[in-house]
Amino acid sequence: RMPILEQCYNLMDFEAVARGVMKKSAWAYYSSGADDEITMRENHSAFHKIWFRPRILVDVEKVDFTTTMLGTKCDIPFYVTATALGKLGHREGEVVLTRAAKKHNVVQMIPTLASCSFDEIMDAAQGDQVQWLQLYVNKDRAITKKIVQHAESRGCKGLFITVDAPQLGRREKDMRSKFTDTGSNVQSSSGEATDNSQGAARAISSFIDPALSWKDIPWFKSITKMPIILKGVQRVEDVIRAVEVGVQGVVLSNHGGRQLDFARSGIEVLAEVMPVLRERGWEDRIEIFVDGGVRRATDIIKALCLGAKGVGIGRPFLYAMSSYGLPGVDRAMQLLKDEMEMNMRLIGCSSVDQLNPTLVDTRGLSMH
Ligand code: FNR
Repeated sequence: RMPILEQCYNLMDFEAVARGVMKKSAWAYYSSGADDEITMRENHSAFHKIWFRPRILVDVEKVDFTTTMLGTKCDIPFYVTATALGKLGHREGEVVLTRAAKKHNVVQMIPTLASCSFDEIMDAAQGDQVQWLQLYVNKDRAITKKIVQHAESRGCKGLFITVDAPQLGRREKDMRSKFTDTGSNVQSSSGEATDNSQGAARAISSFIDPALSWKDIPWFKSITKMPIILKGVQRVEDVIRAVEVGVQGVVLSNHGGRQLDFARSGIEVLAEVMPVLRERGWEDRIEIFVDGGVRRATDIIKALCLGAKGVGIGRPFLYAMSSYGLPGVDRAMQLLKDEMEMNMRLIGCSSVDQLNPTLVDTRGLSMH
């Protein structure tokens, strides 16, 4: 029997429910990682290697964890990251996430491969709600230019170019489920016949350009005024290069463990990146985001202590949406806010700008 929503006490609970109620092929697509799923598991468990060094006797009667990401004020330092094919989990698709994001004043990143059309998702936003675009770069740059400039004209506030997927990873759970229904918008955005025998992911991704390189970045800067963020950066050398080419941000991410297996977790890479940026005095030249395996407010706090501006969260909201629709995503976000308030108090910080590296013990990370 399906638990009632109030029986979900944390983000992992939604995963357990979704596993029982989702269509098998949809579950396979959302939950799969690449190859042996070692990176996917590590994303979550890497957070367990970091411990707190809380402060005591600090006035934490009032706790404020609002923050700013790319100039946007948010209630809490996370955003809904881009995940393709929202209608696999819920008949209304990504607009459900849009509505929850509005309610909690968090940013939503719209995927190129959304089930809803881009305009439907923009239209679902209200007032000054902020959305970003996740971009898969098409071999046909005219198509890419059109997508980017349309997003900007509709008021999108950030361009996240996915750079960890020159070829889609091999997600065997997804491949085995012999996926058939990719949803209409996705087929037309790729403009090519799809081969579903390789699973959902591969069926919809044949348009992505594996020749994309650093040389293309100036072109992106020339076609848009939106801040440009590289999503899927995995080593400090590439963060330095990102600063040098003048992009506004990077997401330290391995695509939720769905691309290169044995890629390190974003939080592990963050611990390597920030000291180098600080040494160069570059920490204000670029905004660093992290995603992958974030399930608890303590995970968010750890990332912020180490220097991230914010974190992306993917699967938990898909599972909450698939299981309970809007009330599910609403509750998932509220649970994170409640956890955030309590844990900020317990580590002795009343605002996000007080979070700093002395509050965490990272000796358990393998880099040390
Ligand atoms: C993704 N992710 C992703 N990323 C991207 O740049 N473009 C995309 O189309 C997708 N699609 C997608 C689908 C599904 C089902 C998942 C689970 C993930 C990766 C996503 O943006 C993010 O990097 C991870 O999901 C973060 O990890 P968690 O929070 O899911 O553990």
